Amino acid sequence: MSVRRLAEASVQPASFAFNKANTAAAKQWIKKYPKGREQSAIIPLLMIAQEQEGWVTKAAIETISDMLGMPRIRGLEVATFYTQYQLNPVGTRAHIQVCGTTPCMLRGSEALMDVCRSKIHHDQFHTNDKGTLSWEEVECLGACVNAPMVMVFKDTFEDLTPERLAEIIDLYDAGKGASVTPGPQNGRTGSEPASGLTTLKSEKAILKSTRDREAREAAKAAKAAPDAIIAAPVPAPAAPPVAPSNASKPKTDAAETSPALKTPSKAKVAPAAEKAASVSAPPHSAANANKAAPEVEKVSKQRSGPKKRAEPSSAFKAPETKQPTAKPTKKPV
Ligand code: FES
Repeated sequence: MSVRRLAEASVQPASFAFNKANTAAAKQWIKKYPKGREQSAIIPLLMIAQEQEGWVTKAAIETISDMLGMPRIRGLEVATFYTQYQLNPVGTRAHIQVCGTTPCMLRGSEALMDVCRSKIHHDQFHTNDKGTLSWEEVECLGACVNAPMVMVFKDTFEDLTPERLAEIIDLYDAGKGASVTPGPQNGRTGSEPASGLTTLKSEKAILKSTRDREAREAAKAAKAAPDAIIAAPVPAPAAPPVAPSNASKPKTDAAETSPALKTPSKAKVAPAAEKAASVSAPPHSAANANKAAPEVEKVSKQRSGPKKRAEPSSAFKAPETKQPTAKPTKKPV
């Protein structure tokens, strides 16, 4: 996988703003999270920004982080972690993400990348001459049972051959990407066996056996208690709403977690000052290396497992574990 960095400053726009429709969509997403947890909307908001701009710009990351009241470094961490976000301008008609993780690799993803190299550009993240197509290698996209596969925007194309991928790329290049049906490209449905279903072939038979079983159970229940009135289940009272928990919130007052901090500090800490503020590691001691700390030692207990039974003398012993038997010594005559 490639290193994920922001695009060069020369291609970064100076500012970012959601258009009217996307502003409404962003507000809707933020409302889905409990009060105090609005930062969780960073994933969908970055996605909306990408759909609007074609890729995720630095200005978009910063604007969205500010909107959600979170440090910009946190927004940058999310955007640079997930390969669903394009940090550089990509092809205007398609950006092909080829999965190169083991199952796809074993099923021929290298050949798919060769197709991208010959049809789009030799290198990842470079557009073709017309600027319509680009490609990259990514880690597992979660469709391993239909390997090898590629993803284009939000669609996955699975069970690919180099020839089929070449056709799909040509269709996208011609502006006919919408005509390609996503999913398996070899005719199978979902991830059923490539040769077709081997079990559960008849839905009718399955439904009939379920209905027959239910009818038998109902008849049995009626026979056991002919006069009993089966009361309708009473719905359980609704649980009171639970306030959001702070249990997983890191307990830290580190400067970089402050929402007030907009950019990483430019101030450099002198090495001497940093050393003075650090706790140095204790010197190595071979004797102490295998000992637990006293507080751990105090609470640790010997595990009481099953008692070991004495092995019967007739138990089988592997030849190599048998003790050599002493030769009988000759009795003196
Ligand atoms: S390995 Fe390719 S989708 Fe999982």
